[in-house]
Amino acid sequence: MHYSSHTNQSILKALAEQFQAFHKTLGTRSVASANTNPVEVEFPEKGMTFDQLNRLISEQVRPHLSASNGGRYWGFVTGGANPIATYADWLVTTFNQNVSKGGDSIASEIEQQALHWLCELFILPKTFNGIFTTGATAANVLAAFTARQYAGHQQNIDVTQSGMTGLDVAIFSATPHASMVKSLGFAGFGQNSWQKIACNPQDESMDVSALDNALTHCKCASKVVIASAATVTGTDFDDIAAIAALCKKHQAWLHVDAAFGIFERLVNGESGKTRGIELADSITLDCHKWLNVPYDCGVFLTQHMDLLKQCCDVSAPYLVTPENTLSYMSMGIENSRRFRAFPVWATLLAYGKHGIANNINSNIRHAKQLAQWLHHSDKYQLLKPCELNVVLFKPNSEVVGISSGECMANLNASGQVLLTPGVWQGEPIIRAALSNWATTDEDVTQVISALDAIT
Ligand SMILES: Cc1ncc(COP(=O)(O)O)c(C=O)c1O
Repeated sequence: MHYSSHTNQSILKALAEQFQAFHKTLGTRSVASANTNPVEVEFPEKGMTFDQLNRLISEQVRPHLSASNGGRYWGFVTGGANPIATYADWLVTTFNQNVSKGGDSIASEIEQQALHWLCELFILPKTFNGIFTTGATAANVLAAFTARQYAGHQQNIDVTQSGMTGLDVAIFSATPHASMVKSLGFAGFGQNSWQKIACNPQDESMDVSALDNALTHCKCASKVVIASAATVTGTDFDDIAAIAALCKKHQAWLHVDAAFGIFERLVNGESGKTRGIELADSITLDCHKWLNVPYDCGVFLTQHMDLLKQCCDVSAPYLVTPENTLSYMSMGIENSRRFRAFPVWATLLAYGKHGIANNINSNIRHAKQLAQWLHHSDKYQLLKPCELNVVLFKPNSEVVGISSGECMANLNASGQVLLTPGVWQGEPIIRAALSNWATTDEDVTQVISALDAIT
């Protein structure tokens, strides 16, 4: 390789230039790129110079990226990267620590500190601990593993060691996120293993009396309940306090997927829509969503670290860790791990509780503003009052003669906004999810103009 530490100076200069150039266009570039095909370049025998590589990035990559880091990417639940977390993430790469085990670096203890501060931010008791993951999906995988281990314990089977033969488990949920269903498949339960509990009328939250009935009549040796806080389409919250009481009565494991909904706690506190989440056996949350740290960063929390460790620990002579040393490889999926806690740590310190809550409140205010406009527009139908950061709507077919799918495609093609689809009460709809600290009043006005221009 012809690169050496001498290249560092030109790399740092180029990084600053790339950063400025990308950020300068975030507000004006098309939110979704029309060109998604990489340029035809042969894999070289002899590597390129840094200048050649950097030119290729500037000319052939950077112009064709989306503006997902900007204020009008309202698809999925996409967070932006705040400036401090961006800086910290550069340092993560610079430091290049492998946070697999403690003992040789401060990084492992910083991960613990960040986890404890997150618990404090979300008003969770100190009995919760956990691990940073690549996202909510990976956290849900750990949830499925830990619940499986719990069920095994109830039936004198160490599932991690001996497998699932003979394990008798029933899993209940009303509107699990697709990643939770995927996780049930990974954990060997099967994607179709869960029993659907009816929803409350008009929304996606669980009918608690239906759960009570299902748990009471369930003959399985172990029971697992997966609750949502909130659902990805309707932003509906299950009544976690009531569900936790039922789980306690039936000795059922309670996992709460709170990937973005847990941030509602920063608005309404412990007695808001997440009331009772502190009683869950495990919780999933995402930092690359509403905490606005760069991809990828989620968190799995549990009050049963012993079970999590039983799922993830494996012995090998070269991996032995001294007693009382943190070993993340025994708490999660990966052995080798990025120092992804660092941008979270830096964000929590730089913004503080108030700064983070301000970003959340700003997204909610903007989402409500959009909902208000849709409600009064004769071109659209607002399908549900907006209570958090997601707005559900569709074109009014009597005024605008196109389907939801066509309308969304036209809006996305305008380059002003990126929206993603959903299904609400059996009907295809358009979803706008606002989770980026960078969204401004002007962004909302610009999207409203694009919506209004649809004919
Ligand atoms: C409730 C919920 N759970 C899980 C996920 C999956 O998150 P990730 O993409 O970080 O794996 C999402 C993503 O939108 C979500 O909203």
